[in-house]
Amino acid sequence: MSQIHHRVHHFIKTSRKEYRAGVLNAEDLDADPILQFGNWMDEAIDAQVDEPHAMTLATANRSGEVSARVALLRRVDNRGFAFFTNYESRKGRDLAENPNAALVFHWPSLERQVRITGKVFKTEAAESDEYFRDRPRSHQLSAWVSHQSQPIPDRHELNRVMREMEHRFLNQDVPRPAYWGGYILRPEVIEFWQGRPNRLHDRLCYRRINSQWILERLSP
Ligand SMILES: Cc1cc2nc3c(=O)[nH]c(=O)nc-3n(C[C@H](O)[C@H](O)[C@H](O)COP(=O)(O)O)c2cc1C
Repeated sequence: MSQIHHRVHHFIKTSRKEYRAGVLNAEDLDADPILQFGNWMDEAIDAQVDEPHAMTLATANRSGEVSARVALLRRVDNRGFAFFTNYESRKGRDLAENPNAALVFHWPSLERQVRITGKVFKTEAAESDEYFRDRPRSHQLSAWVSHQSQPIPDRHELNRVMREMEHRFLNQDVPRPAYWGGYILRPEVIEFWQGRPNRLHDRLCYRRINSQWILERLSP
């Protein structure tokens, strides 16, 4: 029987980082948390965080069974946070049953985390079309090839269907499959976390109350 390497046990048991990269004060934050998110994303891009727009997306089905995965933030504006996916995937089925979702961004080199919760809605077909049109052709074809989250016999199957789709859409634009498109998470709560020494971190949390944003500091 194989075993988890001793080094792994040792590392996860003893690794302790002191966070000292920054501080977070309420007076430094924008009154609008979406604009504040934009400021932090800008700083993450500056800091050359790898894929700073990668976010963990948590969903739950109607029974409350939770699942989480990483997706890429593709748009952010006053409506909320948009990502694109297969509507028939596990996440798509969860969101059809239960629109509540959460997003987490983690930017380790900045010792920052952003947590967002709210409900999702689908983007208009025209917006999904527009985003789909801008994708590389091979990505457009893969949306036709992949029945995301379904079991498949092996990898050859993907290559076979890819060739089929290349043939099917030869010399024409690849249309967006009806089962593929965007979601926008409309935030209700957005929390900005900055790591601080001695585990006394800064947490500033915006909550939408009667279409106003209330800002509170939370205990670390
Ligand atoms: C960095 C990164 C970015 C990803 N971006 C997306 C994305 O934008 N959309 C998407 O559908 N899946 C994306 N994935 C794949 C998802 O994590 C996941 O495997 C897939 O969407 C199926 O999830 P589901 O079965 O829970 O629906 C990404 C994965 C990683 C690691």
